[in-house]
Amino acid sequence: MEKLTKTTISQLKNFVDKTVTIDGWVYNKRVSGKIWFLLLRDGTGLAQCVIVKSEVDSENFELKNILSQESSVSITGTVRKDDRSVGGFEIGVQSILVHQIADEYPISPKEHGTDFLMNNRHLWMRSRKQNAILKIRHHVIKACRDFFDSNDFVLMDSPILTANAVEGTSDLFEVGYFNRSAFLTQSGQLYGEAGAMAFKKIYCFGPTFRAEKSKTRRHLTEFWMVEPEIAYCDLDENMTWAEKFVEYIVSHCIENCKAELDILERDISKLEKIKTPFPRITYDEAVKILEKKGVDFQYGSDFGGTDETLISEEYDCPVMIHRWPAEIKAFYMKRDKQNENLALGVDMLAPEGYGEIIGGGQREDEHDILVERINEHKLPIDVFGWYLDLRKYGSVPHSGFGLGIERAVTWISGIRHIRQTIPFPRTLTRLEP
Ligand code: 4AD
Ligand code: MG
Repeated sequence: MEKLTKTTISQLKNFVDKTVTIDGWVYNKRVSGKIWFLLLRDGTGLAQCVIVKSEVDSENFELKNILSQESSVSITGTVRKDDRSVGGFEIGVQSILVHQIADEYPISPKEHGTDFLMNNRHLWMRSRKQNAILKIRHHVIKACRDFFDSNDFVLMDSPILTANAVEGTSDLFEVGYFNRSAFLTQSGQLYGEAGAMAFKKIYCFGPTFRAEKSKTRRHLTEFWMVEPEIAYCDLDENMTWAEKFVEYIVSHCIENCKAELDILERDISKLEKIKTPFPRITYDEAVKILEKKGVDFQYGSDFGGTDETLISEEYDCPVMIHRWPAEIKAFYMKRDKQNENLALGVDMLAPEGYGEIIGGGQREDEHDILVERINEHKLPIDVFGWYLDLRKYGSVPHSGFGLGIERAVTWISGIRHIRQTIPFPRTLTRLEP
């Protein structure tokens, strides 16, 4: 196929002493007498362009007075190696073609408040750090797909509009659906289970929704989740899949996102420690860690953000906590044969206080028990008919998990708040832009 890509800043190393044309935007400008410098941004990197009065026509030279930040330009010039320049190269300009002179750009290099930046998210994503975070997101997603594709999982899309809840009814988004109501999906898992019985190993990947009323730095109301589901798989094997998967994502990012992690000043040595096997502890053991650290923890309740940090501090790698009090876990979880009060669920906590990145477990595969659970949880049994069918026609032990993409990106990027890891975040207080 004919190559459709034009030269980009990221490829300048292949064009030393050659003439190139780069399409981009003005990032910055510095004028000093008979020479001026234009820092060009093209989405793949930054390059310093040097405009010398004697080397360009006067119209091009006078652009120094009118080219504003974010004006769109195509720059033709010769590539020179220059270690002092950003990226290691500079462009000796021959000509500049102007596409549009930008209005005064609201985001300058000076400090802005987060609210202002979030209101300008459609522009803020051009900034260096935001750009780096969203590229890491791209690579996290690519790594997810590559991992499952290369392990013979089939991609199976699950619906967004559903008739039933998956993860409890308290945070469901209800939408009008002709003459009845529907819910935005909280997880593709139940459909994934149908897929696992059809293909053995599947994954679904899509947006999921939770009407979270909490304003924390870990919660979005719309987030993306990748969810593998595996037939003939118990909790232990499920945990092995989860750790291999996370190890793969991290190593992919270390290898492919060096520049981005550098821009974010991420301590890569911490990521290099992410090697399987990851520690596996029971809920009971996790509670003991908290008690030893002097936390007044109520046995049987869920861990809060601070608890998660205290537990994960014990390890360099993500830690998997399994066998949870059944009352705080979803209706579909299988119980532990050794202790019926425990559910065979697993949560993976990221290190460095980033909290839960994965939730999953082994599913209840016996029809009558599942009916009991649906009733115990006061869920409407009539909309689960199809799900119960899966236990009537060749039911097998099966397991799966869900990784929150934005939680993983927050951790790998080493940033504080989840809202920067998705192009247009949705939270309790934000629906725009
Ligand atoms: O632990 P959760 O609720 O598990 C499930 O939904 C299962 N049905 C998944 C499965 O077994 N197939 O959510 C899974 C992950 C969490 O560990 C977290 O990473 C992310 O989804 N997550 C959120 N991310 C951002 N904002 C929120 N409000 C999130 N809620 C969950
Ligand atoms: Mg969870």
